[in-house]
Amino acid sequence: MTADVGRTMDQDTPALRGKSDEFCKQLMDNLHDAVYCLDRERRITYWNKAAEKLTGYCAQEVLGTKCNDNVLVHVDESGYQLCKEDCPASHAMASGVPQNKDIYLRHKLGHKLSVSVHASSLVDSQGRIVGAVEVFSDNSQKREAQEQAKALGDALKELDATCARLHTELAERKRVEEALSRSEGHLRTIVDNLPIGVLFTDAQGNLIFANAALQQIWGGVRFGGVEQYAAYKGWWASTGKQVKAEEWAAYRAVRNGETSVNEVIEIETFDGQRKTIFNSAFPVRDEKGRIVGAVVTNEDITERQHGQESLIRSEKLASAGRMAATIAHEINNPIAAVMNLLYVLGANPSLDADAAKLITVIDEEIGRLANISRTTLGFYRNDSDHSVVNVAKLLDEAVELYSRKVQENSIYVDRRHVTEQFVSANEGELRHLFANLISNSVDACPSGGRLLLRVIPFREWGNSQKPGLKITIADNGRGIDPRHRRNIFEPFFTTKETVGNGLGLWVSKTIVQKHGGTIRVRSSQGRGTVFQIFLPKSRAEGAF
Ligand SMILES: Nc1ncnc2c1ncn2[C@@H]1O[C@H](COP(=O)(O)OP(=O)(O)O)[C@@H](O)[C@H]1O
Ligand SMILES: [Mg+2]
Repeated sequence: MTADVGRTMDQDTPALRGKSDEFCKQLMDNLHDAVYCLDRERRITYWNKAAEKLTGYCAQEVLGTKCNDNVLVHVDESGYQLCKEDCPASHAMASGVPQNKDIYLRHKLGHKLSVSVHASSLVDSQGRIVGAVEVFSDNSQKREAQEQAKALGDALKELDATCARLHTELAERKRVEEALSRSEGHLRTIVDNLPIGVLFTDAQGNLIFANAALQQIWGGVRFGGVEQYAAYKGWWASTGKQVKAEEWAAYRAVRNGETSVNEVIEIETFDGQRKTIFNSAFPVRDEKGRIVGAVVTNEDITERQHGQESLIRSEKLASAGRMAATIAHEINNPIAAVMNLLYVLGANPSLDADAAKLITVIDEEIGRLANISRTTLGFYRNDSDHSVVNVAKLLDEAVELYSRKVQENSIYVDRRHVTEQFVSANEGELRHLFANLISNSVDACPSGGRLLLRVIPFREWGNSQKPGLKITIADNGRGIDPRHRRNIFEPFFTTKETVGNGLGLWVSKTIVQKHGGTIRVRSSQGRGTVFQIFLPKSRAEGAF
């Protein structure tokens, strides 16, 4: 528009021109937009009121100065001075094409002004470019709005990016959590299915987790603090002493950081069973090395031990068998010789009555010895040795063999069998049986103790069809340790260190079984022991 106004100026008559100049000037001064004109040398030839208002320079100050004299100091966004090489007016003059640009110029007071510039070339009637006209207006509000929009755009972009990152992080965390819980579940399944018992404690030793195998070993589980340890009953296999609460490997692991491996412990489970276990524990530490808990493992080795024990037992039996054969062979001949000599001696008329009686006793004992060597060690079956035996009498005679020890220890022998009782049996073996049991009772009795012997008619436990006798040999001695209870009938099991050979009960049991009878034991530590034997009345009832 401004270019068109300029272009008409040259074309009018002088009369009209004066009027139209005045009109033009008023028009230009009333324009809201700032306008200035340049000649070809870029000298400012016109400066309107709006330009004065906007820049602070009045027309007198700028007219005649060159645009590139740097009065206005046009710069672009990056601060590059446009008046020298990139002047929109120069471009418009050079190309004849109108130029639009958002730039900055310097206000007279020194501050920067943001303006939109529109520059066009001015042509004369011959179409020659004679200068340029530049219209400019304050665009700071527009620019501010643009900048705010840009800032908003940037903030939105950043928000977008943050959202995207959060989304990825959340997805990742979810994935990790899922993986963790999967692997936790996986681990739990593994621990639960382990064939050995596993128990976890926290840093204070509180029992917090037990797998299925552990609960099976112990017949249950007791969670809780150290006070619960006492509920777990165990004895050291090596010493037989009870495991105290603070002696459990779990406790030592959390308190002292100790690692224990395969401690052999005999336990009494919550459902009353006796088992042998391997007990191990180690402390669990965090990355700083602090103890945060303990892992305990239990392995039930009862079966394995039984296996080993029965292997040892069968080895013992085999060696006992071998030994028996050797002894029987070696001993029987001298015994036969002694018996012959005694026979000769007994027949000697020069013996007085006492000596003859003694010889008879020796003869009987040697006969018993011969029998022992055959039955105890040979264990062969010889039915012809059976006869009707007066059990009560045999029992009394057996106790006589220990009369010296009985007297020395002031043991009171309480005989409760009033009537004579008979069974069909091998007399020598029964004598041997009673001697074994009485000898054990006498060994166990304290000074001033009591030994009870009783024979009564009886029908076998759980089998009323089988009549016979019940023989009781009881004492109020030290009793049998419950942990030894299942071993006492094994060959070579003895608690009498140097004096015992551990064959007495094994032989006794064999004799009873051979007679079709049963042997039972009841004992209470520190209070006494009761052995009861059932013998069937006759061979028809027994298995011999
Ligand atoms: N009346 C009893 N009182 C206490 N303990 C007993 C009694 N009878 C047997 N025992 C225990 O059983 C074990 C095995 O007995 P036994 O086979 O006769 O062998 P030994 O007498 O040579 O030790 C004994 O060592 C003892 O510990
Ligand atoms: Mg014995």
